[in-house]
Amino acid sequence: MNSVRIVVSATNPDPDAIAQAAAMIQRGGVVAMPTETVYGLAGDARNRHAVQAIFVAKGRPATDPLIVHVADYAQLVGVVGQLPASFALLSEAFWPGPLTMLVPKHPTLDPAITAGRDSVAVRMPHHAVALALIRASGCPLVAPSANLFSRPSPTNADHVLNDLAGRIDAVLDAGSTTIGVESTIIDLTCTPPRILRQGGVPAEQLATVLGDVIVHTIVVADADAAPAPGMLLKHYSPRAPVTIFRGTTPSIQTHIVTLAHQQTSLAWLCYDDDIAMATQAAIPYACLGARADGAAVATRLFAAIRELDALAVTQIVTSEPHGAGVAAAVRDRLFRAAEGRIVDL
Ligand code: TXA
Ligand code: MG
Repeated sequence: MNSVRIVVSATNPDPDAIAQAAAMIQRGGVVAMPTETVYGLAGDARNRHAVQAIFVAKGRPATDPLIVHVADYAQLVGVVGQLPASFALLSEAFWPGPLTMLVPKHPTLDPAITAGRDSVAVRMPHHAVALALIRASGCPLVAPSANLFSRPSPTNADHVLNDLAGRIDAVLDAGSTTIGVESTIIDLTCTPPRILRQGGVPAEQLATVLGDVIVHTIVVADADAAPAPGMLLKHYSPRAPVTIFRGTTPSIQTHIVTLAHQQTSLAWLCYDDDIAMATQAAIPYACLGARADGAAVATRLFAAIRELDALAVTQIVTSEPHGAGVAAAVRDRLFRAAEGRIVDL
């Protein structure tokens, strides 16, 4: 399959380009689309063949359910069942935006989408291209992140094609995404609601609307024990093992430089204020930006991990961004990328 790159404006997409991609969706094809978080691999939620094609293209196990993306509330008909009161509060506050809500599914929704579960994940993305594609397709779109299973999520069209060229019909290329980590997933089928994945909407913002909310982003090594498959450790892993160091910035820098002297094939997933040390010690690095700016670090995270992957090093070392907000989601992704390997200095 030849995967077409369709270049579009992120803010004002050309209707002809959107129509070309929508025609592929309507034929049961799979098209990667930009959202404000990461690129998603989209297909018609009402077409069983398209849903299957998404699992196949990603190499994703059938046990890992898909998010249904809508452009308006009318498209939730036939997708969701009885909605809890918290849904109205949260959608009012955060949609369109990086919040995915788990709610009871509609009985007629394809069970492959929810991997046989009773709840469905729904989201209205805040991106002109995604919204235009959903509208032009005339149906809700299922869309997992557009990466091969267990690879980092894609934040630009090159990442998508590096993983999926030849396996998808097209990618709508609107440049880099603006948030860089995936949506927050909140389970509204329990009381109080539980955050299952930290992401674009920080927990503290959800708490201002809900009052009571539990952060339940546990990580488990065993697929059978996971409340949601995305909770698995080793979900965002580069090929080389990652180790996170905690401590003062000078102690981390000194430790990493010492390590690099002992081991040559090491790379540093670093911050602005580490670059001088990395350069001086000739340690290959990818920079995440300022460690106090969680939002900026989030936009660089997956791209930087892919850059280090391309170096074919045998070890990656890093530390965590500071602060609240989206930085919490970045710390979560780093923890998973490191499979929990944290060393306190
Ligand atoms: O930002 C995002 O959420 C991106 C963009 C494309 O919208 N999508 C995304 O999808 O990250 P994905 O499939 O890579 O991650 C969604 C995760 C799944 O791995 C699964 O753990 C969880 O959402 N999920 C989806 N439906 C679920 C369900 N019915 N019950 C429990 N967990 C569910
Ligand atoms: Mg994913």
